[in-house]
Amino acid sequence: MAKAETFQDLSLTPAGEGQELRSWLYSELRTAILDGRLRRGARMPSTRSLAKQYSLSRGTVTAAFDSLHNEGYIAALVGSGTYVAFELPDDSLAGPTAAVTPAQPSRAALSTRGNAAIGGVRLLPPSHSLGRAFRPYEPAIDLFPVALWSRVAGRVLRKAPRSLYGQGDACGYLPLRKAIAEYVGAARGVHCEPGQVIVTSGAQQALDLAARMLMDPGDAVWMEDPGYPGAIFALRAAGAQIIPIGVDEEGLDVQEARREAPRAKLAYVTPANQFPLGGTMSPARRWALLDWASHQNAWIIEDEYDAEYRYSGRPIPALQSLDRSGCVIYVGTFTKMLFNSLRLGFMVVPERVAGAFAASRTILDRHPPTLDQAILAEFILDGHFGHHVRRMRQTYGRRMKVLTEAAGLRLGGKLNVEEADSGMRTVAWIKTGQKDRSVAERARSQGLELAALSEFRLTHAREDALILGFAGCTGAELRRGVDVLAHVMDGESEPQARVMAME
Ligand SMILES: Cc1ncc(COP(=O)(O)O)c(C=O)c1O
Repeated sequence: MAKAETFQDLSLTPAGEGQELRSWLYSELRTAILDGRLRRGARMPSTRSLAKQYSLSRGTVTAAFDSLHNEGYIAALVGSGTYVAFELPDDSLAGPTAAVTPAQPSRAALSTRGNAAIGGVRLLPPSHSLGRAFRPYEPAIDLFPVALWSRVAGRVLRKAPRSLYGQGDACGYLPLRKAIAEYVGAARGVHCEPGQVIVTSGAQQALDLAARMLMDPGDAVWMEDPGYPGAIFALRAAGAQIIPIGVDEEGLDVQEARREAPRAKLAYVTPANQFPLGGTMSPARRWALLDWASHQNAWIIEDEYDAEYRYSGRPIPALQSLDRSGCVIYVGTFTKMLFNSLRLGFMVVPERVAGAFAASRTILDRHPPTLDQAILAEFILDGHFGHHVRRMRQTYGRRMKVLTEAAGLRLGGKLNVEEADSGMRTVAWIKTGQKDRSVAERARSQGLELAALSEFRLTHAREDALILGFAGCTGAELRRGVDVLAHVMDGESEPQARVMAME
């Protein structure tokens, strides 16, 4: 039988002032085991003798032993006491195999599908600063009623029942879905019950979900050209075959599409405000598209990411409102109507597939964050949402006029900046023959954020326009942006005029 070590043999460092005795003893014994003062296989002193020698309670010693035991430093043999383990947990950390075989850089690779899915995707940079002319995707965060939002949030969080901290509904928080159903019905003529509404992480997740659920690899999809890259990437990731279809002032050319791919499975369109050219799809094209989809048993994704902002003419109700066969998936988002980081959007799906979409939503991320949805629901139900959108419509209309007037004065001979009739950005046609990408690159190097039309091209688009956002910039920021752009197009770079200076 192995001799029990005595405490004197171990030369334990006395406990420091205020140190908890249980963790002191644990760590001293562990150190003694690791440095060999307590040898592997040696019998541990009894808890009683340790307690007596060091004036500790038996409970303290037993607790330290328990920790050592749980971690594998000591083992108890029934009827014969406690021993230091032969194999210590730290042995596996050093890892005999690791010591023998030097670590090789892993060659584990992404899947072919994974590589195809991310091909060409550009990460959007976080907004470290706001008001950058001419960031195309940003609403007026400077005017968002932060104090009001905080008040609503405070009230919701104070009164939220504990159940809202538990598992949420895969399709979204029911009061929010009801509020959305009511809002899209009144504002856009969308026919739906709350059960058809699925709350998503922005419009982008809705596009991804639709692509996963509706497309098999190789299925053809009609895609507006130029068109929204986020939709192209989601559809491509699902293995869809993208068929570029031209757009004109009436929207997607349905006749061309029918010639190119009559048996496509889906059409992606932005009828309220074509991305990126602007313009509204004509009623004739809407009927033609619906007619094709219902005869072909095809789907239509209607992406109304910023339909609320219309500055002239009467708003045309959503395509979904004309759909009699149940083939339209309607997509909307609060990221453009309120603020980007909210990341709440929604889709309205035909009733027959609502359950399947809910199941798919569960696979993606179970459900959207309930408390954020509860705050948004209250913000809508209190009428603040409607008020904010109306106010922003007026503001954006004014900002767009500032941009077109400043551009008319400073850039008249070089750019023809269109008056947008809706949305948060406009098209500026280049009159100098310069290529849009080269102008955009030089402008970016001077701190502007804008896009070249050809960056949204699949095959059809021209190379002679810039896409300028105006919603997220004040009038002063837009005027300064126009100045910088004028210098860029003149081939000058004027450090004082750099937009960086605006931060
Ligand atoms: C046409 C279009 N659809 C969808 C989205 C994605 O919106 P979200 O930020 O809500 O995901 C955008 C974003 O700019 C867009 O322009």
